[in-house]
Amino acid sequence: MDIKVVENVKTVEADILVINMFEGGKTSSDLVNKYAIEEDDFKGKFGETYLLQTYGKEIYRKVLVLGLGKKEEFNSNKLRVAVAKAVKKAKQMAAKKVAFALEGIDFDYSEQFTMGALIADYSFDKYKTDGIKDGVKEVFVQADSEVVKKAETVAAAMKFARNLSNEPAQFATPSELAEIACDLGLETKIYDREECEKMGMGAFLAVGRGSVQEPKFIHIKYAVDNPKKRIAIIGKGICFDSGGLDLKPASSMLTMKDDMSGAAAVLGIMSVLRELHPQVEVHGIIAACENMPGCKAYKPGDILTAKNGKTIEVDNTDAEGRLTLADALCYACELGVDEVIDLATLTGACMVALGTQASGIMGNDEELIKKLIDTANRSGERFWELPMWEEYFDSLKSDIADMKNTGSRWGGASTAGVFLKKFVKDVKWVHIDIAGTAFLEKPQKEFIAGGTGAGVRTMLKYILEA
Ligand code: BES
Ligand code: MN
Ligand code: ZN
Repeated sequence: MDIKVVENVKTVEADILVINMFEGGKTSSDLVNKYAIEEDDFKGKFGETYLLQTYGKEIYRKVLVLGLGKKEEFNSNKLRVAVAKAVKKAKQMAAKKVAFALEGIDFDYSEQFTMGALIADYSFDKYKTDGIKDGVKEVFVQADSEVVKKAETVAAAMKFARNLSNEPAQFATPSELAEIACDLGLETKIYDREECEKMGMGAFLAVGRGSVQEPKFIHIKYAVDNPKKRIAIIGKGICFDSGGLDLKPASSMLTMKDDMSGAAAVLGIMSVLRELHPQVEVHGIIAACENMPGCKAYKPGDILTAKNGKTIEVDNTDAEGRLTLADALCYACELGVDEVIDLATLTGACMVALGTQASGIMGNDEELIKKLIDTANRSGERFWELPMWEEYFDSLKSDIADMKNTGSRWGGASTAGVFLKKFVKDVKWVHIDIAGTAFLEKPQKEFIAGGTGAGVRTMLKYILEA
């Protein structure tokens, strides 16, 4: 879909002209008066639409009135969702050209308009052999073209990540992720099993042992002269999480191709950095492997030694993400960056706590946490802080090693957080648990079911605002 910025949207010969209406209010568009809305049918409630026929009297064939809800409750996040609804509606109607004549909105909607239209335009139908619906081809709008252009790039990064999350595990293997990383045109280093062994990554390698797929440790670097700061973004890269020997029940395994959504986000982010050229050095790090119960699989009771020398008693092989992240965090901390941020589909507990509406956030630097929460709010995501008190470590104490990988069932997201903290040294660090937000089982707001690209919008905004 192309977003076309035009001077006067009403002169575009579109299949549909979209105009907006606030709840109980009027639209200043004379079209509504001309073709009259039945008030009983349409009051401008948020996300509602009403179709007017123009009977060939206008250059656009139909007018879609888009309800924006109460004016005093309206904001740029609502705008994005409303635009997405209109685009989905237009797609259903098989419209190719859609013009948006937005009126009475008293903020610059250029960014969130673009995000809403492009997020809604997304589909994953490469494996469908029939009945593929073409989307809307062109969207016309009066907006700030520079802002639109940047948002288009961010939406492309999200699409990149969503495609990877949606890709079945049979194709999106650790080796495939490594290849994709190498094709980004950035400085990239892939470490194979042997090299990871030499680096002492005993926790990461243990997780990957039960699979026939080779583990790959991926390090991508975007460099600039005189960077304002240096950051590392780690993405959990479990290409499939069967649970390992502590096998998941069938229903819980169903979506576990998505357990590399953190990695997908990292690849999506890295894929657009050259285009956005922020003055920030960015390292993308992924410890990619599968968690499978093959005959070489790691076992409950095993003791693993992570890169920093700490020992971990395996309590549950399904708590594999934190083991891979442990080594990735050690690696990232050795890069001498200013900040380390990890994105991980880490705990079902985070999903229980926050549902699919917000990612959990915790870390060792309150200021950085607050900044990321604020950036998320402005980018269209939600991050919610969860505690990471040291007391959560009590249940991770082991009789024979430095720690266990799981403890009490309660407060599981926070327990995972304090576990990760043991592998962070001398750096500002934030952990973002995207277990609930990275992959939707049913459509929500601007998204269809499936991968959402969680973390991409926020991290790119954060990097660009540095
Ligand atoms: N990948 C899962 C977490 C997850 C669950 C992500 C649901 C998305 C949706 C993770 O590896 C896992 O299995 N966590 C366990 C931890 C437990 C064994 C302590 C969990 O949450 O049940
Ligand atoms: Mn697991
Ligand atoms: Zn997992």
